Amino acid sequence: MRSLRQLGLVLSVILWLVECQGAAQTSKPNIIIILIDDMGFNDVSFHGSNQILTPNIDALAYNGVILNRHYVPNLCTPSRATLLTGKYPIHTGMQHFVQIPDEPWGLPLSERLMPQFFREAGYATELIGKWHLGFWRQDLTPTMRGFDHHYGYYNGYIDYYDHTHHMRDKNYTTGVDFRRDLQRWQQDNGTYATEAFTTEARRVIEQHDRSRPLFMVLSHLAVHTGNEDQPMQAPPEEVAKFAHIADAKRRTYAGMVSSLDRSVGETVRALSDRGMLNNSIVLLYSDNGAPTVGIHSNSGSNYPYRGVSNNCLQGVRQPLTDFLVVQQKESPWEGGIRSAGAIWSPLLQQRGYVSNQVIHAIDWLPTLAAAAGVRLPADLQLDGVNVWPSLSGNLEPQSRRLLHVLDDIFGYASYMRDQLKYVNGSSFQGRYDTWLGELPADEADPLSAYYVQQVLSSQVQQVLGTRALTNERIEQLRAAATLRCPANEQNHTQPLYVCQPLEAPCFFNLAKDPCERYNLAKLYPLQLQLLEQELQQFRLNAVPSARVATPDARANPALHGGYWEWWNGTTTTGGSSSSKWSIFNWVWLSCLSCLLVAL
Ligand SMILES: *[C@@H]1O[C@H](CO)[C@@H](O)[C@H](O)[C@H]1NC(C)=O
Ligand SMILES: *[C@@H]1O[C@H](CO)[C@@H](O)[C@H](O)[C@H]1NC(C)=O
Ligand SMILES: *[C@@H]1O[C@H](CO)[C@@H](O)[C@H](O)[C@H]1NC(C)=O
Ligand SMILES: *[C@@H]1O[C@H](CO)[C@@H](O)[C@H](O)[C@H]1NC(C)=O
Ligand SMILES: *[C@@H]1O[C@H](CO)[C@@H](O)[C@H](O)[C@H]1NC(C)=O
Ligand SMILES: *[C@@H]1O[C@H](CO)[C@@H](O)[C@H](O)[C@H]1NC(C)=O
Repeated sequence: MRSLRQLGLVLSVILWLVECQGAAQTSKPNIIIILIDDMGFNDVSFHGSNQILTPNIDALAYNGVILNRHYVPNLCTPSRATLLTGKYPIHTGMQHFVQIPDEPWGLPLSERLMPQFFREAGYATELIGKWHLGFWRQDLTPTMRGFDHHYGYYNGYIDYYDHTHHMRDKNYTTGVDFRRDLQRWQQDNGTYATEAFTTEARRVIEQHDRSRPLFMVLSHLAVHTGNEDQPMQAPPEEVAKFAHIADAKRRTYAGMVSSLDRSVGETVRALSDRGMLNNSIVLLYSDNGAPTVGIHSNSGSNYPYRGVSNNCLQGVRQPLTDFLVVQQKESPWEGGIRSAGAIWSPLLQQRGYVSNQVIHAIDWLPTLAAAAGVRLPADLQLDGVNVWPSLSGNLEPQSRRLLHVLDDIFGYASYMRDQLKYVNGSSFQGRYDTWLGELPADEADPLSAYYVQQVLSSQVQQVLGTRALTNERIEQLRAAATLRCPANEQNHTQPLYVCQPLEAPCFFNLAKDPCERYNLAKLYPLQLQLLEQELQQFRLNAVPSARVATPDARANPALHGGYWEWWNGTTTTGGSSSSKWSIFNWVWLSCLSCLLVAL
């Protein structure tokens, strides 16, 4: 009798556990992060430009929340490290430059990453596209770091069609940089990268086991340049849509953006077709601003923000030629660090508005984890905060202190307390510290006369279409998300206001001066000092750069069958992928059936 009661108790506990688990599985939202590479703030039409229309991205933004003050580190590798760790690059050792293919370093293995936390919470985790956080040892690669699967590449960029990576200043063989998980992959040779990644995203979604939530990072090559022999690549039929753009390079760029926009439409549609969209969070943003000018720029535009971003090109070791000098530093300005972004989810209580909450890439890990009910380890020291309540409730913007750049090797820094922004040192030796990428006024897409109709007939709007998005609302949101540098009676070219960051630190009040034209350092020296002291606190807590800048010729693809591949034999054994979760389920289920049989 007693044992029977005990058995009953055990049984109900088991049933309860299974039930809880089941409920947790189905209710956790799918997380889809669409990460764009090197796209300018001014290159999505929801920020007001009529030159390149992005109706799918815009529809996602207008139905969701436009992230109007979204900040990111100014370079690929640091930006990606920040997204996955929720920490500033100075706290992971990722603050200095990008990972060059033959350099033996990567995101330190001591860091626990976003996909690991989501996987432990029962998610299927997928990375599609770019990694750029190191691969010299196999245990640094995505499937060893929390992603169940990876389809894509390890380096900063590849050729859009043959998926090779050529290292420009080395005598190495050009190598294929494309894999499915750890396997070399050449089956998709010839497929335009944006299309290949979109097809893979659709496949993942279509074949997804819906009893589990999905965590997917769709990390595009677009709109980064390809190899330097052919940096600008887009399908001819996409480029043909932009006859109104005179500059051939910018026209091809427009084709790259346009393919990307279509990809967003197809991805959202796939989620909808699979019945997953109504329980998804879709976040889209660019990893940093566009490299507007300089050799191998993509001609993207951050206008009217100041400055540009670097792209992930290499060749910086010997500062001899113009190119090498030009590539030495990156941008502290808004143009490099303020990223076009939007988030959409039915789980957001307030939608269809422009958010002026300051958000940084450090925030996405705690924010998405909170939104999904994914518990993070108590000992995890994050820099980011959970901004979900703020986004979901459209709350008053919270006060923030953000470190934008602190690279004491290249010697420049950029820091922000609320609206006050401090800049010391600069990139490209100050050469590109101006306002670049202004688009010709007479190059509007003829279809922009029907802009609202373009948005309303986009794939994304067709899918999300139940919520009424009126013409007026679209116009209002677009106007609110469009930046114009405010007029000021003062002449900003007066010596009093001019910022020469290579000579002396500057600061700006972004509330009145988002375009960083009026340096206030001479007017308010005490304020400058305060900002400097705050920055100094960050400096004291910085860990040394993890970069190992010593090239290792064993990286040469010639030594690896023509592929870019780890060259250090070290591997981590065990701990493979999703097996933990399913074994857990299986054990409980078999216990349960034993008991049922016993009864
Ligand atoms: C470049 O590679 C070729 C073939 O591997 C070799 O013969 C040549 O010496 C190399 N040149 C340099 C500068 O390393
Ligand atoms: C990819 O396709 C091109 C064109 O057909 C071919 O020249 C190249 O060798 C292929 N690459 C690989 C790795 O098979
Ligand atoms: C989402 O849609 C699917 C299919 O249309 C439906 O089965 C499911 O109940 C919906 N979920 C939510 C949270 O609305
Ligand atoms: C500004 O940057 C320069 C160059 O890195 C550095 O020498 C100087 O100490 C910095 N100034 C302050 C106040 O941090
Ligand atoms: C602004 O100041 C600069 C330098 O002091 C001067 O050359 C220029 O003429 C001024 N512009 C206007 C519109 O006053
Ligand atoms: C691999 O890396 C480890 C530590 O990073 C090092 O000790 C070892 O010598 C390396 N092995 C090879 C073959 O390079």
